Amino acid sequence: MNKKIIIANWKTYINSRKQAENIFKSLENNNYKNLELIICPPFPYLLKAKSYKLKAKIGAQNVFYEQSGAYTGEVSPKMLKDIGVEYVIIGHSERRALGETDEIINKKIKAALANNLKIILCVGEPLVIRKHGFKATQKFIENQLQKNLNGISNAKNKLLKILIAYEPVWAIGTGISDTPEDSLEIIKFFLNSKFLIHNSMVLYGGSVNSKNITGFLKYPEIDGVLIGEASTNKEEFQKILKISSKINH
Ligand code: PGA
Repeated sequence: MNKKIIIANWKTYINSRKQAENIFKSLENNNYKNLELIICPPFPYLLKAKSYKLKAKIGAQNVFYEQSGAYTGEVSPKMLKDIGVEYVIIGHSERRALGETDEIINKKIKAALANNLKIILCVGEPLVIRKHGFKATQKFIENQLQKNLNGISNAKNKLLKILIAYEPVWAIGTGISDTPEDSLEIIKFFLNSKFLIHNSMVLYGGSVNSKNITGFLKYPEIDGVLIGEASTNKEEFQKILKISSKINH
């Protein structure tokens, strides 16, 4: 049976070394054998994560699509790989909102794969689309997947290195999650989509917390969750891990 994947996306909520170290420390004693934990701190704390005995993989929240050169302020896939980062979040709706296009996302995925990073690709519809129903939602996401995965074939199992996080934009950071039933409906569509292959992992993200996580993880089709704000509260995150580890999967 697959381990459920729990991704902690700290965003810019954690903004001091002390806070970051506190959470790293709290994660040192975790040993949930049926969970795959991926912690995504902001860039300045990535290296620090490596000095803790975390039973977790480390992910970055963003990456640039060139390896090196005159690109002030950018962080290349090569640099991430060099410091032991394994995963990178690409296409988060908060980055799309800042102007990241499907084409840029596609370039980033290709560059990250070329450096053997694993990808957490975020896709999801805004509220206006969801209001038009499942069909419109599926079409919207299909279009995102088509553009974001353009030119990426499964040669060398490349698609298996891409986790898809289904994150309805209206559910992120709002405290209003999708219902597990509705998100399952969309996720089932992913699993049948021509863009994915057998064994692709699909996660849910958007206002997940200790109270609602069981509803999502109980479904075998939902391989895990991407958690933002709730993952930055030490006690709440410990609760989430404990609950997740007890779900039969
Ligand atoms: P949230 O963020 O859990 O704070 O809604 C989810 C995300 O990072 O996508």
